[in-house]
Amino acid sequence: MKDASAPQKDVILECRNLWKVFGDAPDGFGQATRSLSKEKVIAQARENGSLPAICDVSLDVKRGEILMIMGLSGSGKSTLLRCMSRLVELSAGEVSFEGQNILTLKDRALTELRRNSFGMVFQSFGLLGHLNARDNVAFPLRVQNVPKAARHARADELLDLVGLTERKDNFPHELSGGQQQRVGIARSLISDPALWFLDEPFSALDPLIRRQMQDEFLRLQTTLGKTIVFVTHDFLEAARLGDRIAIMRDGQLVQIGTPREIILSPADDYVRDFVSDVPTSRILHVSDLMKSGTATEDAPTVAPSDPLELAIGHFLSGHADLHVVGDKGDVLGVISRDDLHVLTGQGAQND
Ligand SMILES: Nc1ncnc2c1ncn2[C@@H]1O[C@H](COP(=O)(O)OP(=O)(O)OP(=O)(O)O)[C@@H](O)[C@H]1O
Ligand SMILES: [Mg+2]
Repeated sequence: MKDASAPQKDVILECRNLWKVFGDAPDGFGQATRSLSKEKVIAQARENGSLPAICDVSLDVKRGEILMIMGLSGSGKSTLLRCMSRLVELSAGEVSFEGQNILTLKDRALTELRRNSFGMVFQSFGLLGHLNARDNVAFPLRVQNVPKAARHARADELLDLVGLTERKDNFPHELSGGQQQRVGIARSLISDPALWFLDEPFSALDPLIRRQMQDEFLRLQTTLGKTIVFVTHDFLEAARLGDRIAIMRDGQLVQIGTPREIILSPADDYVRDFVSDVPTSRILHVSDLMKSGTATEDAPTVAPSDPLELAIGHFLSGHADLHVVGDKGDVLGVISRDDLHVLTGQGAQND
């Protein structure tokens, strides 16, 4: 994987050879993961009647990045997130946060780490039913003995942020699924975590709110500079929000890379399927396909940051190539109709 050589200081969370087996792991499992092939270890676990949910996953989370995790249902996304934050115990492997091996932390130190450094938003909301929205959001501060007025003030700010100003006094059962999830998002931010784990946080939201939450999320990330690990089923969401996307299949990491790398160089047919029905021309930019050189004299101009679909519009109206120009009109390169062949078969032509 390309990030294996990333310098340590740029890495906030380092995951090495993670394994999670549900059910009893076979005897000598840890040793087997070090000495046998991945396929053999998986086969042994299955023979043993256990379920290998995470199989030899290594990846680094870089400081300040949004790392998206994608994969079909049951591919191990939530389990991977839980292994990264040690919400479930690994069967084998190492996880280091800021260079510290979190697997050796005792209960108290682990609780402190989760409370102070990790924020979590769960797929299943995880709200406390007997507390209203404000008290749910404020709950992590209550555990830290922050005075009531201060924690309520902070909770109110975050509830405003997620658009629940009017629902602060409502209990979870009085809120829609999307509203409950927004309470969960607000709660996860109250400790100002360094590393923010989100498991399909927007899946219960209607499309308009979802889009607003994505925008809000990007704004938060820009202003707070959080490092985020984010699970989604939605490739468009992954491409819109993510700096990199990790794709899981049957507990294994199939590919990790930028949205552009995933779209233009899918590792296999499974990955190709993920991008096959998404409007890649809306995700990619002119800069992703531009080359050096100049276009024909009367060619229209586009900017490197323009969506590729804008260039396609020009091609459809008969132009064979386009000048790619900078802010001051300086020619940076060229993009031609022929360059689109890399998208053939990836759904980019038809949207
Ligand atoms: N606590 C558990 N005990 C036993 N098996 C589990 C447990 N949690 C998850 N699994 C199994 O591990 C595999 C991975 O599950 P996981 O929840 O990580 O998938 P996922 O990719 O998050 O799926 P989804 O998209 O449906 O949320 C599945 O086969 C699941 O049944
Ligand atoms: Mg899940």
